[in-house]
Amino acid sequence: MSTVKPQDTLEVRVRRIHRRDLNRTWEFLKLVFRDVNRETVEYQRPRSKRRFMEVYTSEWIEQLLYEVDGEIVGYSECAFEATGDDNWVNPRWFEKRGMRPLFVEELAVHPDYQGRGVGSFMMDQLQHLARTRGCTHLVLEVAENNEAALAWYRARSFYKLDAAIFMAQKVPGEPDLLPPRRIKRRPKVAPEVEASPNTGPMPEAPAAKPGARKGRAAAKKSS
Ligand SMILES: CC(C)(COP(=O)(O)OP(=O)(O)OC[C@H]1O[C@@H](n2cnc3c(N)ncnc32)[C@H](O)[C@@H]1OP(=O)(O)O)[C@@H](O)C(=O)NCCC(=O)NCCS
Repeated sequence: MSTVKPQDTLEVRVRRIHRRDLNRTWEFLKLVFRDVNRETVEYQRPRSKRRFMEVYTSEWIEQLLYEVDGEIVGYSECAFEATGDDNWVNPRWFEKRGMRPLFVEELAVHPDYQGRGVGSFMMDQLQHLARTRGCTHLVLEVAENNEAALAWYRARSFYKLDAAIFMAQKVPGEPDLLPPRRIKRRPKVAPEVEASPNTGPMPEAPAAKPGARKGRAAAKKSS
């Protein structure tokens, strides 16, 4: 039997977030999801800094930091209510099924600490919170192409709800701008129209018929 000696392990501590942690936690989240987002292009995390800052003031949301020697190695965010103006969860769907969910909004482990048990500790913490608050299920959204996380959740008995899947249908495209159009050329003005000595506006010269002048000149010559 292998024994784990204290000097071979690190102590991870969990605590509630404080306002002074917000900026570095946001930077931490961007770092964790940088590589994940390359795989899950249509589904990016974290959502927005504005939302992240607002979450701090919500009484329904619990933000926890996990630290090793004061350094953030993990972050979890969970909500006891489906809140927020960008939320599309229908609480009645869960009520009808007798579920009282704890919504796991974010779960992130520093890349240098992944695969070392931090995520499992975070999941135990969320399960514990759910139990103490009378919730029956942990519910979360994960990008279908975040395969590592999906496998990780499945290995922890998470199953797919039939609530929503991302679908798309192509709309036949039409450019906003119209194609080029042919227009009339400006009619050529006859070059030999003499200027009138009058200062008033020139009367509109009737379009000279080809050969008309020539005809008159020819008549003069012949007289
Ligand atoms: C998914 C995540 C939270 C798991 O946390 P973790 O600390 O890496 O997980 P643990 O160390 O507790 O679990 C280790 C297990 O996960 C597997 N694992 C998953 N991702 C891993 C990774 N990137 N590196 C190493 N092992 C990983 C290991 O094979 C191991 O399996 P085992 O339990 O059968 O031995 C973490 O990898 C993470 O933050 N990923 C990036 C952000 C993300 O995708 N979050 C989820 C969005 S919904």
